Amino acid sequence: MKGHDARIEGLLGAMTLEEKIGQLNMLTADLAVTGPGMPADYMAELKAGRLGSMLNLYGIDLMRQVQRVAVEETRLGIPLFFGFDVIHGHRTIFPIPLAEAAAFDPELWEKTARIAAVEAAADGLTLTFAPMLDVARDPRWGRIAESAGEDPWLTARVAEAKVRGFQGKDLAAQDAVAATAKHLAAYGAVLAGREYAQVDVSERALHEIYLPPFRAAVAAGTAAIMPAFNDIAGVPLTAHAGVLRDLVRARWGFDGVMISDYNAIAELIPHGVAADLVEAAALALKAGVDIDMMATAYKRGLPAALQRGLVTLAEIDACVRRVLALKARLGLFDDPYRRRAPVMTAERIASHRHAAREAARRSIVLMTNRGGALPVASAPARVAVLGPLADIAEEMLGPWSGAGRGEEMVSYLAGLRQAWPRSRIDHARGVEIESDDTSGIPAAFDLARQADLVILCVGEARWMSGEGGSRARPGLPGRQAALADAVLGAGKPVIVLLTSGRPLLVPWLFERAEAVLAVWYLGSEAGHAVADVITGCFNPSARLPVTWPVEVGQIPIFYARLPTGRPIDPSFRYSSKYLDMANEPLFAFGHGLSYTRFDYANLSTSAPELRAGESIAVEVDVTNAGAVAGTETILLFVRDPVASISRPVLELRGMAKATLAPGERRSVRLTLAAEALAFPGPDLQPRLEPGEIEIFVGPAARADALLKTKARVVASTAKR
Ligand code: NOJ
Repeated sequence: MKGHDARIEGLLGAMTLEEKIGQLNMLTADLAVTGPGMPADYMAELKAGRLGSMLNLYGIDLMRQVQRVAVEETRLGIPLFFGFDVIHGHRTIFPIPLAEAAAFDPELWEKTARIAAVEAAADGLTLTFAPMLDVARDPRWGRIAESAGEDPWLTARVAEAKVRGFQGKDLAAQDAVAATAKHLAAYGAVLAGREYAQVDVSERALHEIYLPPFRAAVAAGTAAIMPAFNDIAGVPLTAHAGVLRDLVRARWGFDGVMISDYNAIAELIPHGVAADLVEAAALALKAGVDIDMMATAYKRGLPAALQRGLVTLAEIDACVRRVLALKARLGLFDDPYRRRAPVMTAERIASHRHAAREAARRSIVLMTNRGGALPVASAPARVAVLGPLADIAEEMLGPWSGAGRGEEMVSYLAGLRQAWPRSRIDHARGVEIESDDTSGIPAAFDLARQADLVILCVGEARWMSGEGGSRARPGLPGRQAALADAVLGAGKPVIVLLTSGRPLLVPWLFERAEAVLAVWYLGSEAGHAVADVITGCFNPSARLPVTWPVEVGQIPIFYARLPTGRPIDPSFRYSSKYLDMANEPLFAFGHGLSYTRFDYANLSTSAPELRAGESIAVEVDVTNAGAVAGTETILLFVRDPVASISRPVLELRGMAKATLAPGERRSVRLTLAAEALAFPGPDLQPRLEPGEIEIFVGPAARADALLKTKARVVASTAKR
């Protein structure tokens, strides 16, 4: 980077204040019917050197055209970089992040990010606003769909895999895009799951639950970070010097760019911490935010902030330096047109689609399967595929669709028709996703009556989750419950495909249907993947990355809770419980069935003790005790039963996969490092306390599903 340093300093020396602030200004393109376009007035901004980067612009010809203006028609010829929300695929759409998390598979997470990066770069993009790393424990919050669910350790593994996948080995490569770890931090804890609401989490929760995924992203080399819209205890993250500057930059050593969220700097005014744009700009800049996305607060506020002495020129220069350094890392100074369309050969497209199908089937969670209703090994003579989500290809896109096209998605109906070409397959929607009209229910009921098998496709529309998608009643919208009730009463086996961006609270549906598959939003190959699972071509292996409650009143509910002084005792009123329902969720974290059965035995550790800096192996025998081959996801949890502070009843610390033939047994080995047992001490620094720890291995965070053993942490410090 030496040469680049000189170039950056040379540019800084040559820049006017306006040009410097221009590098910190990010504007969005227009989204027209035909795709994104460059608004005419931005061209003037660009030519005047008042624009450093753009978002929502893609398409190689357009990008080259705009880049050419930056390079050839601005005084200093500094190239732009282009960002976009490539969240779960660009043109090829993969399952939503919550679904992909259910695969518990870092290799898969990395692979889909790599493909997304290749396609995004081919469209001229240089940065993605992903991965989203908000630990999410509230199904009311729509953005849980974009998250990896409730667990910090799992989300941290997603962070590493996604950063590696997007950025590749070299950020300057033709097919690399810069990653943006977002939204720093604790956005998932918005009050009552309401979008953009306040957050008040303890310092401990912040450091133990919400920050670790970001720390993992920084360690993996994420090029950018986006502060969250929300506040923590009254301090909006966009102005949170304590988190952004003192922790992430100073202590963690993050030297990439911080990009504000959309209009977030201006929103410091309605947050009530800035009187005007000048104060807002100063607060954000001082906290460490380099790039102002769409608020033009830096443009309008920083000159006056400088005059008022609220910021220094050195502080502005530091931001500009980081933006230019990112452009250098992306290789844009060497070749501003570096991201070029690779030839999208039929072979390449087919391989991306193949990966999408694989990712999708590995994300489908088999929630219930009464009497082995699934798989349906031989094609039924007559099938009724019912419900509003059965045949809307576009819905398969999910909440963030990138450059995906509805017409390129495979609907469930289309996938099933391909899988069972000789069956008679009838389809009726019955009701719309959200409408009061029930006039189509009788026709759907009739089809159900005449069929040998019913596949009922109900759930949410894709716009109902994602940003701005909070729901106080996360159940089936519209009159879908009435449709389901009628169809379930037709006396035929009903398989439900439950489409959603969150756990949907429909306990009655799980009780009454023969089988339920949580299919989330699976992307381009949804229909094929679903058919693979229904027919048994693929044996499901996904597991819930989030606890699935019975009722809204249980939220927030998650497995890593702290023990209470008064554990539940049904016969004792003054114990920790509800009077009117169970404490237990409907499905635990890690729940997910298979077409086979796995037995666990002989849990052991390679050593009885471990010290700081050491690891032990944890071994368990896993047997496929069923009649078909399958892949088991093995989870390792720990608990520190007596510590200086109360520790969670279970904490995920490891995962492994075993693909086993019927009857096959394998010894599976997981590694447990002493560091994974540390927790923030009173000074919030990691602290490893000596003493006994409990180790649990099994398929899910449910006491009756786990084997248990013990080990001792032997620390050099004296025992308490
Ligand atoms: C707002 C969202 O919070 C963020 O996740 C996204 O990257 C930006 N808009 C840009 O689209």
